[in-house]
This record gives sequence, structure tokens and C-alpha cells, in this order.
Amino acid sequence: MYTQLEQRGMPKPPVNVATLAKMKAEKEPIACITAYDASYAVLVDAAGADLVLVGDSLGMVIQGHDTTVPVTVDDIVYHTRAVARGLRRAFLVADMPFMSYTNPAQALDNSVRLMQEGGAMMIKLEGGEGQLEIVEHLARHDIPVCAHLGLKPQSVHKIGGFKVQGRDEHKAKEMIVTAERLQNAGADIVLLECVPNELGEDISRALEVPVIGIGAGPATDGQILVLYDILDITQGRTPRFVRNFQQDHHSPLAAIEAYVAAVKDQSYPAPEHCFS
Ligand code: KIV
Repeated sequence: MYTQLEQRGMPKPPVNVATLAKMKAEKEPIACITAYDASYAVLVDAAGADLVLVGDSLGMVIQGHDTTVPVTVDDIVYHTRAVARGLRRAFLVADMPFMSYTNPAQALDNSVRLMQEGGAMMIKLEGGEGQLEIVEHLARHDIPVCAHLGLKPQSVHKIGGFKVQGRDEHKAKEMIVTAERLQNAGADIVLLECVPNELGEDISRALEVPVIGIGAGPATDGQILVLYDILDITQGRTPRFVRNFQQDHHSPLAAIEAYVAAVKDQSYPAPEHCFS
């Protein structure tokens, strides 16, 4: 049976979880990016991004907050719906905002909203040992899950700032075990933020599911960046892992294409974007 998308005569079929797993198996880097509206969704899709995340980073880059904490499920539903209208090929993931997954039943209700009202194909939650039961519950209900490890921005007030995680040996070992447990609980993707290169590599090797990095070094199965960072819209100090792709290109589309190409040929991330 053909899906509506396959019937639209696209040169490449839409990306799904199986495509992402195959890309990991075949060592094809997975190019991921955030988007928050339909116009940019059209551009990132045209540029060949494999996965698009409606991140709760929208709280910072769209709404102007200092953290992602104020973002609500309604906000994510609204932006996901807009992005879904602009995509044809890319796989659409939506973030579960702060306190929207405090127990399995609440997590399931809110995931269903992101998928049914927003059109998301997978939800992402900031996970650890405390979220294993939730991931298991969602997986049991066939909700595709991306588990976000390393720097978890929703915990910024608990950890005291946006800092590199897993630098000491004990914490690094703990993170590898947690990543394996999340995979075993049913996570389909793990996203790793701000960890040393070596830990990014160890976790990517240890897991069967794709590992997408942001500031996690060159050895993860894919890379993700915040769209407004690569387009040089974000003002002020940006994290070390950000690269401005706009400076050498005449249009946002050309800049996003350059980002996708750099992920695919592994010229991004370069050593200056990484942590040791
Ligand atoms: O919210 C977001 O955009 C994210 C990315 C930084 C990965 O989680």
C-alpha cells in the first residue's frame, strides 16, 4: 500500500525509522535540523535534511525566553502542525516540553497530542534512569521515542547552567549504561548533547539504534543543529559546536544545503566544534 506521501511523485521516499536504522547500518551520516514553521520546513526538506525536530529550543529562539522551561505542549503542537505542512520527505520529531512526561499516563496523553494534532512521527524526551518506565510505556503503545541524554536543557536550573556532561570517567560510564537501558526500554533514537568526542563515539558504538549528536563529536551516526544558529540569526554567544553556514552562502536554502552536505561528507563537526 502506498502512503499519501509516496503518491506525490517524490524522487526519494519519505524517511521513516527503518530508513534511519539502515543509514546507521550503512554508515551514512544522518543530517538533522530543527524547524519551527512551514516556510523553513519547506527549505530544510528541499535541502535534503533527513530528520527535522520541532525542538523546545523554540522557547529561546522563537519566544525569546532564556531557557526552554516555559514551553508548553500547546506551543509544540502549534509549531509541529505548521512544520508538518511544509515537509515531504524528512522524518518529523516533536519535543515533549518540561513537565509534560512526569508519569507514563501523562506522557502517553501528550505524545498522542503531538502525533495526532501536530503530525509528529516520533516524540523526543529528555531521558535518564527516571524515564525508563515512561519510554517502555510509550514503546508498548507503539509511540516512536527519541531519548535525549547528555546536557538536558530542561534541567538547566538543577544542573546550574548549560555545561558539557560526562567528562569524568564515572559519569561517562553511567551515561553509556543509561543509553543502553533506554534502548532496551524501546527508544528508537538517542540524541546526545554536549559530551566529549570519546563518549559520543562509545555510545554510538554501544547502541544498535541511531545516535544523533549535537556537540557530541564526529563519530555519532548523525548531527543536529538549531536552524537559527546555522543561519546566523542567533545573536550573542553561541555554543562551541555551532557553525555559521550562512556566511559563505547567498540564501538560507544554500546555507542549509551546505550544512546537510557538511554532515554527509563529515566535514562538520570539525575539531573546533568538539569537546574533549
Ligand atoms: O530543542 C532542541 O532544539 C533540541 C536540540 C538542541 C537538539 O533539543
